Amino acid sequence: MHTAELQSIPTLTQIGQGEGVYISTYGCQMNENDSERMMSLLEMMDFHSVPTPEQASLIIINSCSIREKPVHKVHSEVGRYRKMKEANPRLRIGVTGCVAQQEKDQLRADIPLLDFVLGTDAIDSLPEVIARVRLNNEPVVNARFQHQAPYHIETLIRNPGVSTFVNITKGCDNFCTFCVVPFTRGRERSRPLQHLLTDVQKLVDRGVREVTLLGQNVNSYESECGVNFAGLLKQLARQTGIERIRYTTSHPKDFNEELMDVMAEHQDKIMEFIHLPVQSGSSEVLERMHRGYSRDEYLGIVEMIYSRLPNAVLSTDIIVGFPGETEAQFQQTMSLLNEVAYENIFAFAYSPRPFTKAQHFSDQISESVKSQRLAQVLALHKETSYALAKQYLGQSLQILVEKFDDETGRVSGRSRQNKSVYFTGGRELIGQTVTVHIQEALPLVMRGERVV
Ligand code: 5AD
Ligand code: SF4
Repeated sequence: MHTAELQSIPTLTQIGQGEGVYISTYGCQMNENDSERMMSLLEMMDFHSVPTPEQASLIIINSCSIREKPVHKVHSEVGRYRKMKEANPRLRIGVTGCVAQQEKDQLRADIPLLDFVLGTDAIDSLPEVIARVRLNNEPVVNARFQHQAPYHIETLIRNPGVSTFVNITKGCDNFCTFCVVPFTRGRERSRPLQHLLTDVQKLVDRGVREVTLLGQNVNSYESECGVNFAGLLKQLARQTGIERIRYTTSHPKDFNEELMDVMAEHQDKIMEFIHLPVQSGSSEVLERMHRGYSRDEYLGIVEMIYSRLPNAVLSTDIIVGFPGETEAQFQQTMSLLNEVAYENIFAFAYSPRPFTKAQHFSDQISESVKSQRLAQVLALHKETSYALAKQYLGQSLQILVEKFDDETGRVSGRSRQNKSVYFTGGRELIGQTVTVHIQEALPLVMRGERVV
């Protein structure tokens, strides 16, 4: 190639030419984080984020396949962009995330106007992929898992604010019989301990006060030098300047006393809010789900948590209508919800997922029974959550302030128990932890007044 030709090829950092990117994100916090990572990488290539697809010359659908019609959702979203693509030959459209991983080449075969399909382990190849689709106009499908490569990523976030998420593990080895994640996110991998300590300290240096450690199953974290999740929490609390540490999601089968000891010892930094998905209150159903604990074992963990951290606040995930779930077994879930005072629950009707064992179970439950059971769970939780919220009335909570709203003159933030609280205050409070007296308490949000 001649030098003149070489000079006319833009470097990776120039490929965006200041044009717009629109990312449409579905699903969990992992995906939110992946979208942020993609946007950070794209900004390094001279793209910038735009609020609507019409303003973009690159559109990415970051898909989720955990429940219900995920492929259909991708088809219908791409369908909405078809005309835009016809009118604008520069427009490139790609799909990332779990549907991309699950469907791979099939997705592009079914939707030829897609320029790229990138699996969950291929996000960091985005710059090269965009270069190929923009410069060579060549479609790219990359959905290989990096089974051998070490899991070395630094948190990439444009404006981290006061509170941010940090991935500590990816993938999952548990193979719950209903869940597609082990197939879309691959085998579990942990980030090296020292990288995490440095990463969190760098975020602190950028003004971050709170991190939420993120993984499908954070408490099976194991560093290359054998440090477990309890050890990671301890070192983050002792060796970094972070003020508040949270984590999600923890698996009941890996929740142990050592973790409780560290949480109890470092209550100043580790928040006593624990998301502990139970899925079902019936031991038989839990067995068929391959969850690795019984109802009594789960209740034992809850007891241990309250005995060591009396102010702990729990939340959970529930699946109703798992194949073969009898009315009596469902009632055990209802009774568990009466027994454990969850402040928050995420309840779902079971939906069969590709690759999973439970999709082949012969005793699938009808949609109408599933939705009746879901409605019962939600109604019961509504009652409980209002009653639990009332307990906060008159209490003084420690609020880490995250936002200021110009229009209302209010600031908002979260309590140690992850309650959203707003009160009158100024922008200068952002990043500070202040005491707030609660005057109105609803399940999702509370209003208070600063105590000075
Ligand atoms: N059907 C319904 N809910 C599911 N979840 C995971 N897979 C399924 C499925 N096939 C729920 C579980 C999990 C949460 C993230 O999503 O409750 O904890
Ligand atoms: Fe899915 Fe179970 Fe792994 Fe959670 S622990 S991601 S529910 S397989």
